[in-house]
Amino acid sequence: MALLADLSVAAEPMTPVPFVVRAIRDELADTSTLELEPPDGSFPFAPGQFNMVYAFGIGEVPLSISGDPGDPARLVHTIRGVGAVTRALRRARPGDAVGVRGPFGTAWPIAQAEGRDVVVVGGGIGLAPLRPIIYYALAHRDRFERVVVLYGARSPSDLLFADEIQAWRGRLDADVLVTVDTAGRDWRGSVGVVTELINRAPFNPARSVVFVCGPEIMMRFTAQELVSRGVSPGAVHMSLERNMKCAVGFCGHCQYGSRFVCRDGPVCSYADLEPYLLIRGM
Ligand SMILES: Cc1cc2nc3c(=O)[nH]c(=O)nc-3n(C[C@H](O)[C@H](O)[C@H](O)COP(=O)(O)OP(=O)(O)OC[C@H]3O[C@@H](n4cnc5c(N)ncnc54)[C@H](O)[C@@H]3O)c2cc1C
Ligand code: FES
Repeated sequence: MALLADLSVAAEPMTPVPFVVRAIRDELADTSTLELEPPDGSFPFAPGQFNMVYAFGIGEVPLSISGDPGDPARLVHTIRGVGAVTRALRRARPGDAVGVRGPFGTAWPIAQAEGRDVVVVGGGIGLAPLRPIIYYALAHRDRFERVVVLYGARSPSDLLFADEIQAWRGRLDADVLVTVDTAGRDWRGSVGVVTELINRAPFNPARSVVFVCGPEIMMRFTAQELVSRGVSPGAVHMSLERNMKCAVGFCGHCQYGSRFVCRDGPVCSYADLEPYLLIRGM
């Protein structure tokens, strides 16, 4: 597998291409994973990139790719239903068609982590854009020192990809720590916010590259905690969400400071984002 897919945008970036739904699986009460069949048989992408996915007749939304970059024959998106488009996509059935434009945007800079510790920090549905980088790191395990995954969700029933997390925890060459904000008495795991896992996690801050995705406030506190532990701000990367329309840097809908999230992101380093993250409401 190539380290990273070609990041150039498709020749017709504004034209959705119909992809047939091969399978759809409910993950949580409000979240499903959609598996799509690329019409060309292959859809190479780099971990961290996103597509514009179109529910025909309803609308189009940006969705990160949540599948395995080593398996480009399947395009996988994990979708939380929050509004008209995401709910329509969750109602898709095998054989239906959805439109796809992409892949767009920047990737998790995994090459920066070679020979270092890879630390992945996810909150809630933020684990979906991170899953491709976890697949990649585990498939190329010899390129990295430690592989550490820290994941937090609101409650045990909100844990995304619970079976896979269990499988990753069973590996001897990865450290996977999970926490929930609140839990009943039957939960035997950790309770607390994901930032509390950082001090318990086995990694060398001076030799780590960290990938973070979750609610913006969680990413801000996570980055601050990592930096206070000695990780360089340039080694902390996060994936931003903003309203998008064109996804190719024309319309300005996704502006964030001087950047367009669709073109200069969604993956950006904390070193670049810090001044904006400190401004409330950005
Ligand atoms: C680069 C990028 C990658 C993304 N990847 C994913 C992904 O992998 N999976 C996924 O489920 N979503 C992802 N999103 C968010 C997704 O695009 C939005 O949830 C979607 O645009 C909502 O559209 P809608 O028409 O369904 O809802 P709308 O009608 O637009 O919104 C319905 C309600 O949901 C709220 N809402 C809108 N967007 C969000 C949001 N991001 N989070 C929480 N509430 C929101 C609105 O304020 C409104 O109250 C991503 C966004 C970006 C920018
Ligand atoms: S969505 Fe149009 S500029 Fe980013």
